[in-house]
Amino acid sequence: MLTIDIIKAKQLKDKPDPNNLGFGNYFTDHMFVMDYQEGMGWHNPRVKPYEDLHLDPSAVVFHYGQEMFEGLKAYRRQDGEINLFRPDMNGKRLNNTNDRICMPQIPVEDFVQAVRTLVHTDASWVPEEAGTSLYIRPFVIATEPTLMVNPSKSYLFMIILSPVGAYYKEGLNPVRIYVEDTYVRASKGGVGEAKTGGSYGASMIAQKNAKNEGFAQVLWLDAIEHRYVEEVGTMNIFFKIRGKVYTPALSGSILPGITRDSVISLLKSWDIPIYEERISMDTIIEASKNGDLEEVFGTGTAAVISPVGGIHFKGLDFVVHNNEIGPITRRIYDTLTGMQYGNVKDDFGWIETI
Ligand code: COI
Repeated sequence: MLTIDIIKAKQLKDKPDPNNLGFGNYFTDHMFVMDYQEGMGWHNPRVKPYEDLHLDPSAVVFHYGQEMFEGLKAYRRQDGEINLFRPDMNGKRLNNTNDRICMPQIPVEDFVQAVRTLVHTDASWVPEEAGTSLYIRPFVIATEPTLMVNPSKSYLFMIILSPVGAYYKEGLNPVRIYVEDTYVRASKGGVGEAKTGGSYGASMIAQKNAKNEGFAQVLWLDAIEHRYVEEVGTMNIFFKIRGKVYTPALSGSILPGITRDSVISLLKSWDIPIYEERISMDTIIEASKNGDLEEVFGTGTAAVISPVGGIHFKGLDFVVHNNEIGPITRRIYDTLTGMQYGNVKDDFGWIETI
């Protein structure tokens, strides 16, 4: 158990218009910080006023990208309490990422305690309007001042909070996605399954091109054959074909999404067949041509459940479910968000009311 110092901000910020939040544009009054030094371990956990960082320009993070981040949300219930959704899963994934990029472990219970303490401190920032939440962004950066390409000897673990609305301007309306066949996101043995900033930086060129063509996101294919579906920019992806649901198996290059995992559990509990396997674009195209591609949706913390209404691949356009949200997508969205906001019973032990 951490002993967290709480240093309150003297001046509180004005809150933004809750009907116009967008995603990640506003930050709350406080942030969580904890230091790491080789030989000392993690120390000095504190909640303090949100402010600029003071870092040496030679800090390892700026040069070699030794950095990771997480994402989860706090939800305002109708009774005014606040829910977290599976925060321990974020703590576990943080440690998997930290292992991969040689950063020190943070005990999962310390991670969850830090999240809880910061959200408590800025509880008034959890918005209550439909479709809004408080996005929680934990991250770890390497701070040792050196240009040597070695794991840093010092780190900062921080958490910042941002009141948010929908990630996509489409909200729950279907998005159109562009299947990327030139650039790749990740390959096995790389960092695709770790949540490190570099993967997202490397994805921006394809995302920018797709956006310029009017698509919401890129659908990535495997790095070797450019044939098998991996994931969408900020989401995992699911296809419903002839009553069965398929999602790409976690192959080492796909981010193990917590919403993805929750959707798989929900589908199993409803006795809807769900398969985690390799899915080729040929299968998707054939299913679409035969009228068997019934629904496509993305899952993610930021994106929630996002119906896909159109897929563009090598000059061809495939419309999914008449560009409308399908029944399974709707049921998953209603159940998951219902649990998160405290309106649907949680039979899985996923919700923590704080
Ligand atoms: C999340 O869903 O929390 C993510 O990490 C996506 C983010 C890059 C916006």
